[in-house]
Amino acid sequence: MLFSSKKDLIGIDVGSSSVKLVRLRESRGNYQLVNIGILPLAPEAIVDNAIMDSAAIVEAISNLITGMKVKGKQVATSVSGHSVIIRKIMLSLMTEEELEASIQWEAEQYIPFDLSEVNIDFQILGPDAKDPSQMNVMLVAAKKDYVEDYVALFAEAGLEPVVMDIDCFAVENTFDVNYGFVEDEVVALVDLGASAVSVNVLRGEMSLFTRDIQAGGNQIREELQKRLALSSAEAELAKLGGRRIGEIEAEAIDDVLSDAVENLVQEVQRSLDFFLATSGDVKISKVYLTGGVAKSAQVRETLEKRLSTPTELINPFRNITVNEKDFDLEYLEAIGPMFAVATGLAMRKVGDK
Ligand SMILES: Nc1ncnc2c1ncn2[C@@H]1O[C@H](COP(=O)(O)OP(=O)(O)OP(=O)(O)O)[C@@H](O)[C@H]1O
Ligand SMILES: [Mg+2]
Repeated sequence: MLFSSKKDLIGIDVGSSSVKLVRLRESRGNYQLVNIGILPLAPEAIVDNAIMDSAAIVEAISNLITGMKVKGKQVATSVSGHSVIIRKIMLSLMTEEELEASIQWEAEQYIPFDLSEVNIDFQILGPDAKDPSQMNVMLVAAKKDYVEDYVALFAEAGLEPVVMDIDCFAVENTFDVNYGFVEDEVVALVDLGASAVSVNVLRGEMSLFTRDIQAGGNQIREELQKRLALSSAEAELAKLGGRRIGEIEAEAIDDVLSDAVENLVQEVQRSLDFFLATSGDVKISKVYLTGGVAKSAQVRETLEKRLSTPTELINPFRNITVNEKDFDLEYLEAIGPMFAVATGLAMRKVGDK
């Protein structure tokens, strides 16, 4: 293919409820969708971010690759959760090379793990607005054994992970390509997954605050299960709302569902309130939502009401060319919210951090 880059990577997001794969073809800054697929994982496969059943995950990855005859071996993937620390820190102005040489020493006080146990990475965000002798730096540390577990999955599937990203940065990438950063505008990107909610507040392209919350779709399911004595599968159905399940009336289910959604929304609100309380005179102008749980209109509406901020569901394919002959557009729209991470990963290139 003329102009096609050989360096396009396969984006694979190993989420706790499913593995998602996206392959794009990039030509001069324009993206075209080549492959997209999702395979579910049993709830026991990944628990609290830890890989419990690697064989099941390897199988899902392999089946996605072979099922769609995905070309190439090089993968961009990501990690998240409590083994990953993201901190915005302030340091004296220095060059990238100088920081490279001193980062271990600088990072020590911000990282609650032994430095020998973590991979450290950083991005210089630029001089501080209030004190130009200082600069803001995004510091990222991920526990080595955790990253190695993820790398091993891909090696076992016969693939080569060449970019290891962080979930919330991949979403940021997807947002950039499809919506674009607006200078000085403060927006929150909130990914509502099965076991985690990640919050990333940006001003323009600069991340001001990130937070991972241990909450999500599983929490809603568990609440329904516990309070209505449902099986896990029944609770998964009940989560969609508006229907009777066995002997339990739709109204009774919807009451519990509202409570569970309310609890989830409160966690997001607490996190944004904390950000606002510690960052002076900042107003979030819009909240962009991704992740499977954001498919629920009830979740979106409750969030919008509680945060008193306009919210919008992100379409990760908004600026991506999709050939209607190859893909069912309605299906893409339905699964879109779950693909924000995988799409952002597929846009990475070899050599990207
Ligand atoms: N229409 C819907 N309404 C409510 N919840 C939904 C809907 N569709 C999917 N979900 C929920 O979204 C979650 C899956 O979303 P997603 O694929 O973003 O999670 P994940 O990436 O696997 O998880 P995580 O990132 O937390 O590890 C599940 O909890 C699922 O029940
Ligand atoms: Mg996810």
